[in-house]
Amino acid sequence: MIDTLEGIQIRWMDFETYAPQIYALRQAVFVEGQGLETLLSSPKDATGIHLGAFQGDTLVAGLSAYLYTQEEPIFEQWKLPPTNHFAVQFSRRATLSTYQATRISELLACMMWKSVYETIKPSFFIMGLIGVHKRLASYYVSSFGFEHYCEAETPNFGIASVYVAWVEKLKATYIRTRGIAEAICQAYHLTEPPLALFLQQNARLSYLCKDYDNENLYLKPLSFKDELPRLSAQARLVYSTQVPIIEQINFPTAPAKFLDIGCGPGVYLSLLSKNSKFEGYEFAGMDYAAEMITYAKISYGKIKWKQGSIYETKYEDNTFDVIHVSFVLIHLTNPALALAELYRILKPNGVLYVVDVNDDTFQGPPIIRRVIHKHKQIYEGHRDIMNFLPTLAKEINFQLENQFHVVATNTGNEGEVIHEPQKLRLGRINLWAMFAFIAQRDEVKDYYQNAEAYYLSSICEISIQIQSHVYRKVVQQ
Ligand SMILES: C[S@@+](CC[C@H](N)C(=O)[O-])C[C@H]1O[C@@H](n2cnc3c(N)ncnc32)[C@H](O)[C@@H]1O
Repeated sequence: MIDTLEGIQIRWMDFETYAPQIYALRQAVFVEGQGLETLLSSPKDATGIHLGAFQGDTLVAGLSAYLYTQEEPIFEQWKLPPTNHFAVQFSRRATLSTYQATRISELLACMMWKSVYETIKPSFFIMGLIGVHKRLASYYVSSFGFEHYCEAETPNFGIASVYVAWVEKLKATYIRTRGIAEAICQAYHLTEPPLALFLQQNARLSYLCKDYDNENLYLKPLSFKDELPRLSAQARLVYSTQVPIIEQINFPTAPAKFLDIGCGPGVYLSLLSKNSKFEGYEFAGMDYAAEMITYAKISYGKIKWKQGSIYETKYEDNTFDVIHVSFVLIHLTNPALALAELYRILKPNGVLYVVDVNDDTFQGPPIIRRVIHKHKQIYEGHRDIMNFLPTLAKEINFQLENQFHVVATNTGNEGEVIHEPQKLRLGRINLWAMFAFIAQRDEVKDYYQNAEAYYLSSICEISIQIQSHVYRKVVQQ
């Protein structure tokens, strides 16, 4: 029996290449182990999504997901409600007996769940349990939000117990499965492969959620009017930390095209555009929020502003020499998809310059750490994206060139910002304002109020890192 997952590799498997290994695993687990010949293959395998855990070349555990559109007979057979997107069925979760005491099966289920939710956003999940698997029903109900839907006659499997998880209840399951998948990956040093990239590389773009264009997690709970002063002040502060960093980056020589994506009200880009390092550059700014773009257009007329989404910018391939993205990637549910789009519109050898905070670097009293941690857990974006950005970017053929960080602390004065090497010392209230958006979320409101009451009535030091990464677009020959 194996009791660790060290050395395991997790992969999305295209069926054409991996069919022999998938069948070998199912043969061992379902046919030889459970006498369920019918689970060996499915007509949906060729179009399915298959996630596997490998030890060397051996597939030791696997899980498949099948996507159904409303035209398929299962809708009729299981009396499922109509949908304009996919219903996704998880199927054939199999683990070699030697790995059954490990958390591999839980990892695959959670990773599949969160990846499908994040990338495909199906209308609902369905599951049909047969034979010995019916005893797993309570696990699926309590862990994944499934509800018993009906008992249905199936062509090959006899009576199946059909379970459905409805879209409106999936958010909590998503947050939970994401947390479990991340925790297991972290504990065993496993890397999570992004489903969005796999689908792109395997010409399955039609599987991707159609709704990404409308995603703006950042502004969802906030009003533009309330956010504008805070965002403008923050942009000036963050820019001041980047001036010595920009000096050290090897940017292309002018003439060159510079895009700031998720540019907000444009304050940051207007400051960048005045930096002598970018003399002779042409500047463009894009943000999803129309109000931001309107404000930027009125305020900074020389720059080309455009409303649009980071997931689908509508720029031509190889348009920009430099793309800058600050305080945006943390707010995306699917950063892999956004990065792939940025790769597409960046010229070969172009520079991607990312600036973001990293909640995992927060230091301060436990009562405040707790609210930061809780918020990170419930937030649909990725407040720790800078931890895994190098791995993710590498998958997209971005080569990491530089990493920098600046620690923002509350050890300065309210009226005066103190710059020290790799340190930005702000006043107590100034730094606290950077965390104010957390208060918007009902799930952490109580924690936030307690933390704020403590902060305002005690002398305590808090700090967080602002991290910068520079990547170059490498083009595979
Ligand atoms: C925290 S603000 C950062 C603004 C600016 N980059 C800065 O550092 O001052 C995040 C910005 O990302 C924008 N945003 C969020 N989701 C986006 C998306 N899917 N595509 C483009 N912009 C997006 C928001 O409208 C907001 O202006």
